[in-house]
Amino acid sequence: MLEFTVAILGCGNIGGALAQRLAGACKELRLFDSVSGKASDLGLADAQVCSSVTEATKNVDLIVVALKPSGVLALLREISETLSANTAIVSVAAGVTIDDLSGSLPKDQPVVRVMPNLAMAFGQGMTGVFSKNQEASKKTNQLFSLVGRTVELDDESQIDIITGVAGSGPAFIARAISGLKLAAEEAGLDSTVSGEIAAQTALGAAITLLETGESPERLIERVTTPGGTTEKGLAVLATREFQQSMIEAVEAAILKARQGMSDKEKS
Ligand SMILES: NC(=O)c1ccc[n+]([C@@H]2O[C@H](COP(=O)([O-])OP(=O)(O)OC[C@H]3O[C@@H](n4cnc5c(N)ncnc54)[C@H](OP(=O)(O)O)[C@@H]3O)[C@@H](O)[C@H]2O)c1
Repeated sequence: MLEFTVAILGCGNIGGALAQRLAGACKELRLFDSVSGKASDLGLADAQVCSSVTEATKNVDLIVVALKPSGVLALLREISETLSANTAIVSVAAGVTIDDLSGSLPKDQPVVRVMPNLAMAFGQGMTGVFSKNQEASKKTNQLFSLVGRTVELDDESQIDIITGVAGSGPAFIARAISGLKLAAEEAGLDSTVSGEIAAQTALGAAITLLETGESPERLIERVTTPGGTTEKGLAVLATREFQQSMIEAVEAAILKARQGMSDKEKS
């Protein structure tokens, strides 16, 4: 149980997934979404659905701002005058920097940037956390540990790497899973069964790596018998430069994250 109070502003994909796991796991959870009924539709008995942003944010330890980036700074300006000095503001918004956030808040308000991904809905998220405030960073880590793994970053620019790898990564892995699925279908298996086999195989490979701590190269070695089926398949992947394609896809995503949002989009 987390010994602090939390408010979540915005109960969409990210805020909603976080709320589901946090309800009953922290001292007090308050929810607010500008779309009427969205917070209550989550049906969380252990959360207090608030009818105004002021009600949600008054005297809480930590506020998670889970809005689309374009609405974040206006909302911070709206709540800035009613915030307690030690309330930590945690933003999940892509491209909105610590300087942007601090610029819309009272001086010295603790601010944290996080980059989660959607697997947090199943307790399997991967979240990067950056803050200049140690206490706020620690609390945020504790919170996001409830929905998966977290990594504390040394430098704000590393958020862009997390965005490219863990934020966009599920789509890249899904592309590989889609290939496994289509191949199973073309070979004669039913579509639903093919999808299940492909996804479970990807999950199994990931769990094996995390549980054993071994490198992907070592897992490849263990699966590959000289002259066997895996070796044949890997040879095809090598001719298509599969690994290099993945590296370049992630590099393109990181570059896009680094380019950030224009000032117009943020305001
Ligand atoms: N989705 C992902 O995979 C992902 C991954 C990492 C980070 N993020 C970041 O997470 C943030 C939220 O993304 P999302 O996909 O969860 O968005 P979302 O599903 O659109 O949820 C945001 C919710 O907040 C509501 N809202 C808008 N303005 C508000 C206000 N002033 N006060 C309270 N609620 C307000 C929105 O209502 P309206 O629909 O009326 O605007 C919507 O219901 C984004 O900044 C994104 O960059 C997303």
